[in-house]
Amino acid sequence: MAPGRVNLIGEHTDYNMGFALPFAIDRSTLLALSPSPSRSIAIASRQMSQKVEIPVEDVASVAPSSWARYPLGVVWALQRRKIEIPGFSALFDSTVPLGSGLSSSASILAATVCALNDLFELGLSRADLIDLCHEAEVEFVGAPVGYLDQIAVLSSHQGYGVLIDFLDLSTTETPLPQETMVIVDSRSPHRNVSGDYAQRRRECEEAAAALGVKSLREATPEQVEAELSGIERLRALHVTTENRRVLEAADRLAHQQPIGDLLNASHVSLRDDFAVSCRELDLICETALELGASGARMIGGGFGGSALVLGLQSDELQPALTTTFSQLNLPVPTAFRASSAEGASRLS
Ligand code: GLA
Repeated sequence: MAPGRVNLIGEHTDYNMGFALPFAIDRSTLLALSPSPSRSIAIASRQMSQKVEIPVEDVASVAPSSWARYPLGVVWALQRRKIEIPGFSALFDSTVPLGSGLSSSASILAATVCALNDLFELGLSRADLIDLCHEAEVEFVGAPVGYLDQIAVLSSHQGYGVLIDFLDLSTTETPLPQETMVIVDSRSPHRNVSGDYAQRRRECEEAAAALGVKSLREATPEQVEAELSGIERLRALHVTTENRRVLEAADRLAHQQPIGDLLNASHVSLRDDFAVSCRELDLICETALELGASGARMIGGGFGGSALVLGLQSDELQPALTTTFSQLNLPVPTAFRASSAEGASRLS
């Protein structure tokens, strides 16, 4: 079993060596795995019609568009380390909504690597599992993501957030907000493989180069204001202010103080400076704040996906979303409670 995740705060900071504070949620991918006598891998999912059967030595030939690229990417990453995997059959079943910015892909990768590690007694450490999932997603699937999702789904503990420092991938357990947390799936799907994510990443690298630093982690908002202009200034302003918000949030949570204003500032920064929000996500956040939420922001890579709302119940929020989105002829978003859960583990 591997969960999805919600990122409380710290968006697009991971590949800039900054900070983020995610937690695992009680929506998860279940995987049943059994060894097979043949040297082939059979993969099926209760959510996907397409089944894949492929010889162990041929995993790289899976179609680029197939969802099976995620689990097969893990096998590919293991083979690259000269870890041989015999044949197996895998059946996936997931309650993480796909393309909703809740890390459905990282949960498939993590479920696969944990199950293979257990079944074939590979003796991999948690750090190995994180690296293998990351390699599979970046190098095999082709999504140039950072380490946020892999660490969140593999290292979270129920009831806590994980403060991640991406410079050395170290983690610190942090209390979660005491207010109710609600996820709103905008039902406007997001994809990390699409070019926009990669473009933001490039823009951040260009901004760091223009400032003469290795990564934007080393820069401050004041320096960015003074030295950069145009797109580079906007992207770097988001990353440098977001890093400060993450550390401030972790500090406040340690003292049981509210963090709603930090979530709101994060959303504005992602919307205006980083330009990764969209009309649906903005509308969800505005609707929630008008109803009295203490904070709301888009989560994940953006360009669609989900929002996180603090301080409202889902049944207070859903009717207003239904009315607003129906009037605009937009698909009605789905609000549900965000409950924290344990990271990837074996169920039996
Ligand atoms: C996606 C990526 C992560 C991270 C977030 C934005 O979820 O997979 O690595 O960059 O976007 O914070």
